[in-house]
Amino acid sequence: MVKINENFLTMKKNYLFIDIAKRVKAFSEANPDKPLIRMGIGDVTLPLAPVVVEAIKKGADEMGVRETFKGYEDSGTGYDFLKQAVADYYGSFGVSLSLSEIRINDGAKADCGNITDIFGDDNTILVTDPAYPVYVDSNVMCGRRIIYADSNEENGFAAMPDESVHADIIYLCSPNNPTGSVYTKAQLEEWVSYAIKNEAVIIFDSAYEAFISDPALPRSIYCAEGAKKCAIEMCSLSKTAGFTGTRCGYTVIPEELTVKASDGSEVSLAALWGRRQGSKFNGVSYPIQCGAAAVFTPEGQKQTRQAIDYYRRNAKVMTDTLTELGIKFTGGINSPYVWLKCPQGMDSWEFFDFLLEKIQVVGTPGEGFGKNGAGWFRLTAFGTYENTVEAMNRLKKLFS
Ligand code: MLT
Repeated sequence: MVKINENFLTMKKNYLFIDIAKRVKAFSEANPDKPLIRMGIGDVTLPLAPVVVEAIKKGADEMGVRETFKGYEDSGTGYDFLKQAVADYYGSFGVSLSLSEIRINDGAKADCGNITDIFGDDNTILVTDPAYPVYVDSNVMCGRRIIYADSNEENGFAAMPDESVHADIIYLCSPNNPTGSVYTKAQLEEWVSYAIKNEAVIIFDSAYEAFISDPALPRSIYCAEGAKKCAIEMCSLSKTAGFTGTRCGYTVIPEELTVKASDGSEVSLAALWGRRQGSKFNGVSYPIQCGAAAVFTPEGQKQTRQAIDYYRRNAKVMTDTLTELGIKFTGGINSPYVWLKCPQGMDSWEFFDFLLEKIQVVGTPGEGFGKNGAGWFRLTAFGTYENTVEAMNRLKKLFS
């Protein structure tokens, strides 16, 4: 008789954003005359930059011509032209990478989950709480032991390591989803030193790095001394360049990142991941990689920066409104997420229902990201400017 992976039975019935989508759909069906403003899932609203669209079209045209048609990409790790563009981009914030350390992915989410394949199930996983649900979910699916480091109001939602606790794999995300907090270089160095001491590996999600405006803040874990010895980094063009529906990003596994196997031999994590991907992944399509490379050209950077500035302006409208209303918040400056304390002592699902009912604004209840999210709420700046202004006006009317 077939056996299922019983770990799935211990999980919440739905993925957080699917759960929210279902509730929102039910509300819309019951209230067709009340149009919603969606500030829940972190999905972008601006179209791809023109330079990206042109590059995708050109790539597609090449696929239609015998001389330039491409089947499998030999290495399965991405075309060198894109890996070179990524390496040059890292160079711009002082991180040197070789092409063999970069692997093109279809967005950070899949790799954040799939990386579990190369680690044993007897590892202790450390996740900062609150966190993007994928880190916890993908380890619960393997039945692994998960421990948490608290990110809360007291520490500015920037959990730091507890030297008395041992972990083998550590998930960090900065700028943080959902809280918008950003680790300083010194804080990342503390995590790196903890990881090295514990012979642990850090999985670093840098999907929101493009929103960092303060040049003193690190855009990559590799800005921290020693990180190449212990960290894997995953990034995505979803939020940087509007690729949520296009799917492309990159995973960095340094050459010097090795761990000991049970027989004492040193094993390269890049080699293990390469082996895993060789069997389970055939790469990102050529036209999409062409579009991704265009993001890193001077014109691509200019055009994608304009979109980021647009979302930043939305975030400013949101943070100004919350300041005016005296509602406590974090994020919104080096991040597209604004993380606010639910007013009037409401819990986060109560506040979700309250906003939906009263002003038809959809956000994400903090509790969906972990226990420390209780009483907190996430709004995204990825909407249109007009909707953001309208949502904030409704919020002002509701609370002033
Ligand atoms: C988010 O809103 O946190 C993410 O973008 C949604 C997701 O990727 O699951």
